[in-house]
Amino acid sequence: MTARVDGPDKVTGRARYACERPAERAAYVWAVPAAIARGTIRSVDASQALALPGVLAVITPDNAPRLPGTGDQELALFQSREVAYRGQFVAAAVAQTLETARDAASRVVVSYEPAPHDVTLTAGHPGLYKPEFVNPRQQTDTATGDFDAAYATAAVRVDATYTTPAEHNHPMEPHATIAQWHGDTLTLHDATQGPSRAAGQVAAVLGLGPGQVRVIAEHVGGGFGAKGMPRANVILAAMAARITGRPVKCAVTRAQMAAVTGHRAPSIQRVRLGAGPDGRLTAVGHDVIGQTSTLKEFTEQSAVATRHMYAAPHRRTTHRVVRLDVPTPSWMRAPGECPGMFALESAMDELAQRCGLDPVELRLRNEPSVHPETGQPFSSRNLAACLREGAARFGWAGRDPAPGVRRAGRWLGGTGVAASTYPARAAASQARASVSAAGRYQVRIAAADIGTGARTALTAVAAEALGVTAADVELRIGDSALPPAMIAGGSMGTASWSWAVIKACRALREAIRARDGAVPPGGLTVHADTAPDVAALPGRARYTFGAQFAEVRVDADTGEVRVPRLLGVFAAGRIVAPAQARSQLIGGMTMGLSMALHEESTMDPQFGDYLHHDLAGYHIAAHADVLGLEAVCLAEDEPELGPAGAKGIGEVGIVGTAAAIANAVHHATGIRVRDLPIRLDKLLRRNP
Ligand code: MOS
Repeated sequence: MTARVDGPDKVTGRARYACERPAERAAYVWAVPAAIARGTIRSVDASQALALPGVLAVITPDNAPRLPGTGDQELALFQSREVAYRGQFVAAAVAQTLETARDAASRVVVSYEPAPHDVTLTAGHPGLYKPEFVNPRQQTDTATGDFDAAYATAAVRVDATYTTPAEHNHPMEPHATIAQWHGDTLTLHDATQGPSRAAGQVAAVLGLGPGQVRVIAEHVGGGFGAKGMPRANVILAAMAARITGRPVKCAVTRAQMAAVTGHRAPSIQRVRLGAGPDGRLTAVGHDVIGQTSTLKEFTEQSAVATRHMYAAPHRRTTHRVVRLDVPTPSWMRAPGECPGMFALESAMDELAQRCGLDPVELRLRNEPSVHPETGQPFSSRNLAACLREGAARFGWAGRDPAPGVRRAGRWLGGTGVAASTYPARAAASQARASVSAAGRYQVRIAAADIGTGARTALTAVAAEALGVTAADVELRIGDSALPPAMIAGGSMGTASWSWAVIKACRALREAIRARDGAVPPGGLTVHADTAPDVAALPGRARYTFGAQFAEVRVDADTGEVRVPRLLGVFAAGRIVAPAQARSQLIGGMTMGLSMALHEESTMDPQFGDYLHHDLAGYHIAAHADVLGLEAVCLAEDEPELGPAGAKGIGEVGIVGTAAAIANAVHHATGIRVRDLPIRLDKLLRRNP
C-alpha cells in the first residue's frame, strides 16, 4: 500500500492552485482578444479604460516593454501589430480588482486593418508542405521497401481516409499565473506541467539569466499537454507585474482557452494496407495532413505508430502541414499516437473484415519480431499478451460475419477491438536526498503533480530505495528551485523522476552505510543526475502496448451510442503506484471515449474562430456516458529504462479507444464512421 500524501489537502480544500494563493496588494490583468482572424492593428485607444477608477495600466503594442528573447512567437506578447488568429491577445488591462480589469479590457478600442483569412484545412490545400520534422523532433517521412509496387499487387487491399477534428484539452483548472518581481528576479506561481522547463523558457523570453525566474506549481488541476509549455498568460502576468510593481494574477478564462492554450490539430489521414489472403501485411502506407499556425510550426506526428505496430516488408509514412490563420496547435494527450491509431486501427478492422479474419487474430498474425523500420529489438513487446488476456477477460467471441444482427429491441449490439501503444522514454533529471541527525528523510526534485498522484508514486519509490516507510520520507516537488527535472509529459514523468530519486536515495543509503549509520549533526545530503545514465541507454525500440475492447449498443431509431463496457489491458512495465496507475489509465480511456463520441472543435470559416467557447458547446464525456470501465496491467518489467522498471501510463490509455468504439459501432450497425466524432446524425444518415 502506498500513502495518498496529498489527498486530504485536496478533499478539504487546503491545497491551493496557482491563482488561489493569497498575494498582498495583488492586481489583476484581463486580456483583450483579437477581433479579427488576420490583419494589422491600426491603433489602440485606451483612454476610456484608463479613465475607470482602479485601473493601473493598459498594455498595448504601443507601450509594451520589448521582449528580447522571442523565438516562440506565441510568447512574443504585444511585440507586433500583426494579428495571426482570432482571440490572440492584442492588449490587456491591469486593475486593482478582477472586475475592474475585465470592465477596462472591454473598453479598450482596437481598430484593425483586416486581411482575408484562411482557416480551413483541406486535403488538397495548395499551402501544404513537408515540415523539417514532426513533434517532438521525429522524422517527417519514412520508407522501407517499395510500398507502391507491393500495394499494387497485394491480394487484399484497404484504402481509406479517416479524419479527426480539432480538439481542446480543457483541464478543470484553466491556465493561471501569479507573477511577482523582487528586484530583477521573478517568482511565478503557475499552473504548469514542468517548473524547470517553464522557468528556463520564461527567462529566455524576458532576457533573464537562468537563476532569475522561479516557477512554483504546488498543485495543478490537469494539463494533458496544454500546460507542458508556458502560454501567453505567463508572459502577460510577468509584464503586468513589472509595469505596476505589484503581484499580478492572470487567469485564462474558459472562453479564452479555445484560442490561446493550444489545440489538437485536425487530421486527414489516408491509410493503405495490402495483405495476402491470410491477412499477413505486405504493404503499409499512412499519409497524414494537418495544420499549424502562421506564428509557429507544430506538426502532429500521427503516422509514427504505424512505423512499429505491424510487420510488413514495404512501408511508407508521410506528414504534410499547412500554415493557416488559426491558433498554434499543440500537445494534447498522446499527440500523434492518439489520432494516428484511430486511423490505423480502424483500417486493421476493415482489413480483418475483408480477409474474413477475427480482428484479434489479424493483429496476432502481424506481430513484428524487431522494429520493422530500424531493425532494433524491442525492449519488451507484449501486445499479443494484452490481446489474449483482453479477449479472455472480455469474453471476446470472435466475429460473426453479418453486422446489424445482434438486436435487442431498439438497440443494436456490437463489440470492437483495437491495439494501443505509446513510446516508453525517460529524460535526464536531478534529485537531492538528505537525512537529518534525527533520522528524517527529505527528497527534492522539480517534478510536477498535475493530478496524477506523482507525489504518492515518488514517495513510494524513495521509501523503497531508502529501505524505510513512506511516512519517514518528506517529498518536495513543484518548484524550479529544486533539482531540475523532466516535465510531467510524454508519459515520461515517473520513469524520469523515479530514476533520479532512486539514484539519489541509493547513494544516500550508501553514504549512511559507509558511516556505519552514524549521521553527523548537520545531516547528510547527496545529489544525483541521470544525464549520463540516460545518454548511455542501449538502442532499443521501447514502447508501452495495450489492447482496448469495447462493447456498444446503438439506438436504431436515434443513432445514440452507449458504451456499456470498455476494457483496456496494458503492458506498461512495472506499476509503481497501482491505484494511481489505474486512475490514469481509465482517465485516458474516458478521454478516448469522449473523443470517439463527443469532442469536436468546429471552426467557423467566416469569422475564423473555434465556435465552442465553453463546456456547454464543447462536449466532453460526463459520468453518465461512462458505464463499465476496467483497466488491467500485465506483469512486465522494463529492465533498462531506469531502476523503477516503469514505462509510462499517462497517455497510452487514450490510444486506440476511439478505434475500438468505432469498430464496435461498425459491428453493431454495418456503418463505418471514418470521421470522428461518431455523432448521431452520421449513423442515421447512412442507416441502411
Ligand atoms: Mo502530454 S500531451 O506529453 O502532456
